[in-house]
Amino acid sequence: MIKKLSASIREFKKDTLLSPLFIMAEVLLEVSIPLIMADLVDRGVEAGNMDHILNRGFLLVLLALLSLFFGVLAANAAARASAGFAKNLRQDLFHNIQAFSFSNLDKYSSSSLITRITTDVTNVQQAFMMLIRMGARSPAMLVFAMIMAFQINGRLALIYLAVLPFLAGGLIFIMRNALPIFEKVFQTYDVLNRVVQENLRGIRVVKSFVREDHEIQKFSDTSETLYRYFVKAEHFLAGTMPLMQASVYSCMLLISWVGAKLILSSEMSTGQLMSMITYTMQILMSLMMLSMVLVMSTISRAPAVRITEVLDEKPSITQKENAVAQVRDGSVRFRNVSFSYTGDASSLCLWPMDLTIESGQTIGIIGGTGSGKSSLVQLIPRLYDVTDGAVLVGGTDVRDIDLKTLRVNVAMVLQRNTLFSGTVEENLRWGNPDATAEDLARACELAQADGFIRRFEHGYDTRLEQGGTNVSGGQRQRLCIARALLKKPKILILDDSTSAVDTQTEARIKEALRNEMPDTTKLIIAQRISSIQDADRILVLDNGRISGFGTHDELLVQNTVYREVYESQTKGGDFDVSA
Ligand SMILES: Nc1ncnc2c1ncn2[C@@H]1O[C@H](COP(=O)(O)OP(=O)(O)OP(=O)(O)O)[C@@H](O)[C@H]1O
Ligand SMILES: [Mg+2]
Repeated sequence: MIKKLSASIREFKKDTLLSPLFIMAEVLLEVSIPLIMADLVDRGVEAGNMDHILNRGFLLVLLALLSLFFGVLAANAAARASAGFAKNLRQDLFHNIQAFSFSNLDKYSSSSLITRITTDVTNVQQAFMMLIRMGARSPAMLVFAMIMAFQINGRLALIYLAVLPFLAGGLIFIMRNALPIFEKVFQTYDVLNRVVQENLRGIRVVKSFVREDHEIQKFSDTSETLYRYFVKAEHFLAGTMPLMQASVYSCMLLISWVGAKLILSSEMSTGQLMSMITYTMQILMSLMMLSMVLVMSTISRAPAVRITEVLDEKPSITQKENAVAQVRDGSVRFRNVSFSYTGDASSLCLWPMDLTIESGQTIGIIGGTGSGKSSLVQLIPRLYDVTDGAVLVGGTDVRDIDLKTLRVNVAMVLQRNTLFSGTVEENLRWGNPDATAEDLARACELAQADGFIRRFEHGYDTRLEQGGTNVSGGQRQRLCIARALLKKPKILILDDSTSAVDTQTEARIKEALRNEMPDTTKLIIAQRISSIQDADRILVLDNGRISGFGTHDELLVQNTVYREVYESQTKGGDFDVSA
C-alpha cells in the first residue's frame, strides 16, 4: 500500500527528503541549547563571570535563530511535498477512474469514489505531512536528547527508561481501541455522501413525492451516527494527553528529587540539573509528537486502504496490442454469446445465443423489462465484455478492435442518458469535436431536434444544466440522438431512446434515419411494437433468451410472446394513437 501511494510523490521527492533533513538540523540545534544553558549557569552565573554570560548568551541567540530558520525551511518543504503529493494522488485516482469500464464502475458507488478523491485524500495528505515533519522530528529529538541526558548523568537518565514502558503500554491500548472506530467513521462518510448526492440529484422527485421530511430524517440519522463514532474515537484519543502529562510530570518530579540530592552531595551542578529538566521536556514532547504521528497514521490507514483499492482496480476492459484500427462494415454477429454481470456462469443474464445482423439492416429489439435488451446491445460497443463466446463487428471480434475506433463506429444512445452542463452545441460536439455548423444542424434535423433548438432564445448557444434538467425529457432524448448521429457511425444503437418522444416525431426520426443513413446498421430497442414494426427484422427477447427473430409478419404467426405483446398493445389499454 505504502509503495503504491508513494508512487504519487513523483516531482515532490526532493521536498519530501529535504523536510526531514532540515528538521534534523533544527533538532540538533535545539538539543545543544540546554548544554550551553548549563554551561552559562555553571561557569557564568555561579562564578559571576559576565564575559562568559555574554559570550554564551550570544551563542544561544544565534543557535535559536538558526534553529528557527531550519524550522521554517522544513515547514515549507513539508507543505509543498504534502500538497503536491495530494494533487498527484487525486489526479492518479481520477485518471484510473476514467479508465474504468462499466463493470468496474458497478463495484463502486459514485459517492464512495467522491469521498475517496476528496476526504480520503485530504486525510492521507495530513498524515503524510505529519509523517515527514513530526515523524522525523520526534524520533530524532528522542534519540539526541536521550544521548545528551545520559552523558550528563547516566543514573538520573535511567528514570526515563523506567517510565517508558507505562507510556508505551498506554499508547498501544488507545490505538487498538481507536482504529476500528475510525474505520467505521469513514464508512459512514460514504453513506453521508451517498445520501446527499442522491438527494440532490433527485431533488425534484423528492419534492414531488413530498419526501423532504424523510430525507431530512435520513440525513440526520447518518450525521448522528457519524457524530457518535467520532465521540467514541475521541473518547479513546482523549486519554493520550493525560497519559503523556502524567508521564512528563512524574519524570520531572523524580528527576528533581534525585537531582536535588545529587546537587547536595556535589555530584551534579545546578546547570546540569536545569538541562536535565529541559531534556525531560524535550523527550516527553517528542513522545507526545510520536503519539500524534501514531494517531494520525492510525486515522489515515482506513482512507489510505480505500485509495489504494481504487488505484489497484484494474480496468476490466483493456485493449490488445496491435488492435485492429478499423471497422470494416456495420455487420454484427453474436457467436454463442452468454453474459453475466458478475462474470459468473451460474447467474447468466443472457443465455448462450447466436445472432447475425447484416450491415445496413434495421433491427428492432423488444422484450419485457429485465429481459436483457440493454445488456445485449451493451456488448457491441464493449461497454461490458461477454462472459463466453464472442461478439463480432464487421467480422472482427470486438476485443481485437481498437477501443476508440470501435466506440466511434458504434454509436449508442444509452437508456439512461445524460447531457452535461454547457451549451447545446458543446454537448453535441461530444459526438464529433470537428463538426461544422452544418453538420450539427444536419444531425439535429435528422433527430428532429433542430426545430426546438432554434426556437430557444439562444438557439445552439442555449446553456444546458447538469444532466440536462432544463429541457424536456423528449427534447433531451432527441439531443442525445443527434449527439450520437454526429459520430457518423456504422452501427447506431438506440436503447429506448424515443420513449419520451411523441409517436409522430418518432416516426419522422425513423424515416429520416432510414432515408439519410441507409448504410448504417440500426438497432432499435423499443417498448411499443409500433416503433419497430417495419424494421427489417425484429429480435424478441424473453428472460435473457432469444425467443424469436424475424419480420413482424413472421413473428405474428410464429412467436406467441410477440403476438401477445402485439395484441395487448393494439387491443388492450394502450393509448398509442398510431398502433
Ligand atoms: N449493472 C448491472 N449489474 C447487475 N445486474 C444488472 C445490471 N444491469 C442490469 N442488470 C440485470 O440484468 C437483467 C437484464 O437487464 P437489462 O437492463 O438488460 O434489461 P432490459 O431488457 O434492458 O430492461 P428494460 O426494458 O427495463 O430496460 C436484469 O435482471 C437486471 O436486473
Ligand atoms: Mg434496458
